[in-house]
Amino acid sequence: MTLTAGALAEVETTAVVGDRHEAADGVVVLTLRGDLPPWEPGAHVDLVTPEGPRQYSLCGDPADEGVWRIGVLREPDGRGGSAFVHDELLPGATVRVRGPRNHFPLLPSPSYLFIAGGIGITPLLPMIDAAGADWRLVYGGRTRTSMAFLDALQPDPRVTVAPQDETGLLDLDALLGEPRADTLVYCCGPEPLLAAVEERCASWPAGSLRVERFAPKPVAGASTSFEVELTQSGVTLTVPADRSILDVVEEAGVTVLSSCSEGTCGTCETAVLDGEIDHRDSVLTTDEQSEGDCMMICVSRASCARLVLDL
Ligand code: FES
Repeated sequence: MTLTAGALAEVETTAVVGDRHEAADGVVVLTLRGDLPPWEPGAHVDLVTPEGPRQYSLCGDPADEGVWRIGVLREPDGRGGSAFVHDELLPGATVRVRGPRNHFPLLPSPSYLFIAGGIGITPLLPMIDAAGADWRLVYGGRTRTSMAFLDALQPDPRVTVAPQDETGLLDLDALLGEPRADTLVYCCGPEPLLAAVEERCASWPAGSLRVERFAPKPVAGASTSFEVELTQSGVTLTVPADRSILDVVEEAGVTVLSSCSEGTCGTCETAVLDGEIDHRDSVLTTDEQSEGDCMMICVSRASCARLVLDL
């Protein structure tokens, strides 16, 4: 089935769990098979769990047709999605999946610096395979036994493995202190790592850093009421201060695809035809946000009286 919302199209289908193994403490790697569409490094997919859709990065080989591979960390304090994957998705089980989506594409560059924290290694694995010769990976984690895929990575001299209990926090000042015009930095991991890398890269050339978030970044600022004009539907709606555009649009009967509802997955991306956007998502880069032609309507708002949306 192909679903559409705004300018996006994606597939929803059923996948069967194939191979499955423990890749590190609390990390299981699953191979999903089925009529699954192709994907590119950086892509993520939704697994539709009883707790709602959950996003996982693909970490296999894009040339493997009809195969998606994911690595999932059990999160005891999470919302139940990872427990479902760990406890229920045994070989032979089926699961509804959606995607793929890619807001973390590998762009051409003479050189790459990949920085991974914990399970954030997953989207970087296929990137490394596609990056060519000039790359470096710095991979941090709590302990060596909590870090997945070490066996495959460690023999490569371009990989630095840095378990926190052995070497402390990653030395980001040494890694990023000197801006380099020929290098793109890709980072995925927990929020403190992403925030620290963003801070160090603020002095790098624009567009040097790309990050992938699975939890929303903190957003400051009060919310106010505004109007949205939906050109395809021919209606204008009021978005109150305490509701999202997505809520209001869906309540009016306009179908929009959504998944995370917290600004991290990119599913609800909507084209903006006019108006000033108050971007609150964790998907678009600063450059993409400043272009002002699209927004994630589950969290982002207007910084003007009226937004005109292509819905
Ligand atoms: S639904 Fe995930 S970004 Fe809006």
